[in-house]
Amino acid sequence: MLEEIKQLDKKYYMNTFGDRLPVCFEKGEGLKLIDDKGKVYYDFLGGIAVNAIGHGHKDFTDALKKQLDKVIHTSSLYYIENQAKLAEKIVENTCADKVFFANSGAEANEGAFKLAKIYFYKKGIEKYEIITLDKSFHGRTLATVAATGQEKYQKPYRPLTPGFKQVEPNNFEAVKAAVTDKTAAIMIELVQGESGVHPMDKEYVQSLRQLCDEKDIILIFDEVQTGMGRTGHLFAYEMYGVEPDIFTSAKALGCGIPIGAVCAKEKVAAAFEPGDHGTTFGGNPFATAAGLAVFDIFEKENVVKNAEEMGEYFKNSLNELKEKHSEKIIEIRNAGLLIGIQVEDSIAKAVFNKLFEERILTSLCGGNTIRIAPPLIIKETDVDLFVSTLDKILEVM
Ligand SMILES: Cc1ncc(COP(=O)(O)O)c(C=O)c1O
Repeated sequence: MLEEIKQLDKKYYMNTFGDRLPVCFEKGEGLKLIDDKGKVYYDFLGGIAVNAIGHGHKDFTDALKKQLDKVIHTSSLYYIENQAKLAEKIVENTCADKVFFANSGAEANEGAFKLAKIYFYKKGIEKYEIITLDKSFHGRTLATVAATGQEKYQKPYRPLTPGFKQVEPNNFEAVKAAVTDKTAAIMIELVQGESGVHPMDKEYVQSLRQLCDEKDIILIFDEVQTGMGRTGHLFAYEMYGVEPDIFTSAKALGCGIPIGAVCAKEKVAAAFEPGDHGTTFGGNPFATAAGLAVFDIFEKENVVKNAEEMGEYFKNSLNELKEKHSEKIIEIRNAGLLIGIQVEDSIAKAVFNKLFEERILTSLCGGNTIRIAPPLIIKETDVDLFVSTLDKILEVM
């Protein structure tokens, strides 16, 4: 069957993903994904930080089925119970006062850019520049590509959406030098995911907050990957003791049902007035039922606490492995269960492939870093399985 799907994909699907890994999953249960031949894989990537509650969680699928039987989509022309209730949940649990729902991370970031710009427009102040960081990743739409500090994503799409510029991460002087009287916003990921899991320094993030306060600049955190418990905190800004004016969320917010969110302080959110922004699907009854079910499961199963504890356990186990394979493992970087294992450049691709052969799913990012972002419900035995498999692989490399 896999061969047939590969042929269909090659013939009919745009070639944006090239040769994918040779597997097609039919079913999921917790950390396990099962392919069309019944082979079991262990999902240590969680659909790239999406499947926070694992696969096939019964309370989740029951809630979705229940909503399917009621109503899937109405329109933003009418009031939507789940939408209002999910917005309430987010506000109750974060520093945000208001929420707007989109369909993806990139679309949430677009909403954040628009909100930052309209905030100044409504005040009659001409500010429109947005500063982001080198090696960042903010999405694949035109404005988010302009925000993404990676040449390979930007090059084919020049001229880019104007107004964006990038500076070196974790370098406060660089960002200070880039600020002008036209700077509307600074947007960062607190932990850069795509570049190989690089957390920002606490002092740097606190200095950015101060700078934004002094210069009347909107501070935006892109928490599309770090949000919803990934770092052992519901949102990563909690680790820094710094509140943004706007943050965005997506990925684990719907645990696989597409949803994104722009979350903002009242002062900024008030700039959006009727007609200024909108969406057809965003926050529809089905997508927001998913978000509500995710919050319910997080609360019932103490998912964020588990992420914190398992993140610590994973990091410690990997650091022990690093001592054993000190020439092959260069560095372990993590924030909770967003973990990067930087290995020696020349073996990175082979380690990734070997893990796949052992049916352990990860991703290779930043060229030399194995990224793991497993479901946040993992247990010590799952971590042990990963670490012993990696140990076995490194022993013969
Ligand atoms: C930090 C960050 N922002 C934005 C995005 C884009 O999200 P989406 O693919 O849902 O548009 C991603 C996706 O990987 C991400 O990691």
